[in-house]
Amino acid sequence: MHKLWGGRFQGSIDDRAFEFNESLSFDKRLYKEDISGSIAHVTMLGKCGILSEEDSDLIIKGLSGILSDIEDGSLAIEGNYEDIHSFVESVLTERIGEAGKRLHTGRSRNDQVALDMKLYIRNTIDALDENLKDLMKILFRLIEENEETYMPGFTHLQKAQSVTLAHHLGAYFEMFMRDRDRFHDIRKRLNSCPLGAGALAGTTYPLDRNMTATLLEFDQPTRNSMDSVSDRDYLIEFLGALSIIMMHLSRFSEEVILWNSDEYRFVEIDDRFSTGSSIMPQKKNPDIAELVRGKTGRVYGSLMSLLTVMKGIPLAYDKDMQEDKEPAFDAIDTVQSCIVLFGAMLDTMKFNKPKMEASSKKGFTNATDVADYLVKKGVPFRDAHSISGRLVLKCIDRHCSLDELRLEELREESDSFEEDVYEAISLNTCVEARKTQGAPSKDSMDEVIRTYRKYLEE
Ligand code: ARG
Repeated sequence: MHKLWGGRFQGSIDDRAFEFNESLSFDKRLYKEDISGSIAHVTMLGKCGILSEEDSDLIIKGLSGILSDIEDGSLAIEGNYEDIHSFVESVLTERIGEAGKRLHTGRSRNDQVALDMKLYIRNTIDALDENLKDLMKILFRLIEENEETYMPGFTHLQKAQSVTLAHHLGAYFEMFMRDRDRFHDIRKRLNSCPLGAGALAGTTYPLDRNMTATLLEFDQPTRNSMDSVSDRDYLIEFLGALSIIMMHLSRFSEEVILWNSDEYRFVEIDDRFSTGSSIMPQKKNPDIAELVRGKTGRVYGSLMSLLTVMKGIPLAYDKDMQEDKEPAFDAIDTVQSCIVLFGAMLDTMKFNKPKMEASSKKGFTNATDVADYLVKKGVPFRDAHSISGRLVLKCIDRHCSLDELRLEELREESDSFEEDVYEAISLNTCVEARKTQGAPSKDSMDEVIRTYRKYLEE
């Protein structure tokens, strides 16, 4: 067993305790961040005269060698090491000797792991942000292509008023915009460097914490050494942001599943993103969308897990905090694959526009417009609402839609109806007359689309 400690021990650790304690099996994915953190630390130690220039140069070369050997596959991260920090330091010392043992001067694994995780989450935010942007580009193409694709809008999953597919998809574009905003906020708030906090109480070496913060592209060093090693707020916020992304993807998936069903037939998911049944030959199932919806629970679980881990631990570092990693890594992998797969499915999905439009004409989606028509003829809205409601009842009885009623039939309920009602309650008018900001008409959407285009070009 390779350990970074042992002096005060007389016996050696139980094998089961070692297994239970180790984190290398999962924190090995922090190798890049661990090494770049160490390089910054040693650079600073050398510049501040805490280590000799020779030693710091030797260590930096050694660390760079380890990094490139890991990346080209010639050095495998394995063996009886407690964690990635022990692995890197032990390999370094094997390779360069005495100088390697000076790497950890003025540092603790507590500020080291706090740094590694922050760096890793920062890199991950940037990567996921790109994934989200790619998904939004697919969405944007569909929005641009479907400004005049009419479809029913729903409330209570009942047909409510007509909208367009562009408008409906635009709602998701807005959600993903907020998701990216949240990423940027979290990135900004996490961007203080914990390195130099030591175990919990700083250090007696004259470290230049500003220098390491700058070398690692942080905005500043953290202000309180105890908070530095025990803060996982940013990780909880990040898992919160991931949970919200999943909530959005899950709602979208739910709609895709409904739309792809025989009852709706609004869309057809491409064969590449569907699966069949082992018994029912007719089936083509929306498994990808269902899995995205299902995996949402798993990401929420990670958030709950970390909130619970953190709730009872006294300041400063406690080993409980090692339990931040597996849920975080699992959530990251899950969200990344969900964004990518959902995007690919969306990109290849076929929208059945005639079916959507036909559906939009049914279900009295223009009942509000009948009332609004009467209001424009001077009828108070509450009366108009009731007249329109009675007409709906009449239509249900006659198995027809509101615009299929003859003028005499309309006038049985109100003599304010005139020939121009048909134009006023046509599907085209119902959508295109809704010109308020944020409404589905092409005029309103044109402006929003310009904003989206600019946003994606940034
Ligand atoms: N593997 C540990 C973690 O992830 C590293 C920090 C260990 N620090 C300590 N004092 N044992 O939290």
